Amino acid sequence: MLRSASVIGTGSYAPKRVLTNSELERMVDTNDEWIVTRTGIRERRIADAGESTSDLAAAAAKAAIENAGITPEEIDLIIVATVTPDMFFPSTACFVQTKIGAKKAACFDVSAACSGFLFAMDIARQFIATGTHNTVLVIGADKLSTIVDWKDRNTCVLFGDGAGAAILRHRPGSRGILATHMGSDGSYADILYIPGGGCLHPVTPETTSEHSNTIKMNGRETYKQAVTSMLSAANISMAAAQLTSDDLKCIIPHQANLRIIEAIADRMEVPLERFLVNLDRYGNTSAAAVAIALDEANRTGRMHVGDTILLVVFGGGLTWASSVIEW
Ligand code: ACO
Repeated sequence: MLRSASVIGTGSYAPKRVLTNSELERMVDTNDEWIVTRTGIRERRIADAGESTSDLAAAAAKAAIENAGITPEEIDLIIVATVTPDMFFPSTACFVQTKIGAKKAACFDVSAACSGFLFAMDIARQFIATGTHNTVLVIGADKLSTIVDWKDRNTCVLFGDGAGAAILRHRPGSRGILATHMGSDGSYADILYIPGGGCLHPVTPETTSEHSNTIKMNGRETYKQAVTSMLSAANISMAAAQLTSDDLKCIIPHQANLRIIEAIADRMEVPLERFLVNLDRYGNTSAAAVAIALDEANRTGRMHVGDTILLVVFGGGLTWASSVIEW
């Protein structure tokens, strides 16, 4: 008999330093009007040099633990979704474990770019369903400021740093996560990627001077793929849960670009007001984005126990995922 998995607590953390569009005007050839009109982003948070991804993740985790009303010792699995790990190894999840004192947890990271948090949630759901683990801490955390080319106006205006976390557990009487979907298409790898820094093109003076260890993106193609794959992912999960968009109290999409969210709202025929949008304040924080938005929705009363919500994401890979949850 498979057990259901519910989100029993959420948390998030954003670094204190705010980088506004007008500050970016002094760094690259851009302007506030262009950034707001094309993306909806007004400011983003940037972590200090000494603040690592696991620091952001641990702060979000502590908030989620408090929100769930559990102790760190109750956590038996930690999964961190990130593309900016503190180090290649150990996993960022291992660093988080020590920082929050979750001594009994097994720890590993997941790499699915901006889709990582929902990939990690789905892994957690299945560990809970089969009964191998009871209390899972899932974190989406990224310090993208370390992999952004601050001289490239096509990308540097889009991204920010942050972390979001959720505690998943079987809650008797609650159906929890009703349906999920994950997809990928590696043939589009080169529209959104970091070519250098891995084993194929290791760090050398040449790769560093060519900025090949920073984000490269074909914006237009990414935009098109994002709309198509998020819509398809949303429809697959809703159909599996035997629901329509009318049944959804709140839709929490990946926070990359307001125009992408508007296009999805339009095609789903759902008013934009039912979408949680906070990218104006954080920009695109990759794996953290949907997790921070989920925490904001939870803490601002956007949904109540028994409401149905949809999470839907998209990222490099390409990867995409969706999850329909009874809150
Ligand atoms: N400021 C001013 N002008 C700029 C800037 C900037 N920051 N960036 C680009 N431009 C210029 C371009 O050079 C181009 O100029 P040109 O016409 O003289 O060549 C012009 O603006 C138009 O550029 P486009 O790329 O066609 O602009 P577009 O309307 O497509 O918007 C954007 C660009 C915002 C990047 C959009 O394509 C987009 O949002 N794509 C999706 C990006 C995304 O979601 N990425 C991450 C998703 S997954 C993940 O999170 C990892």
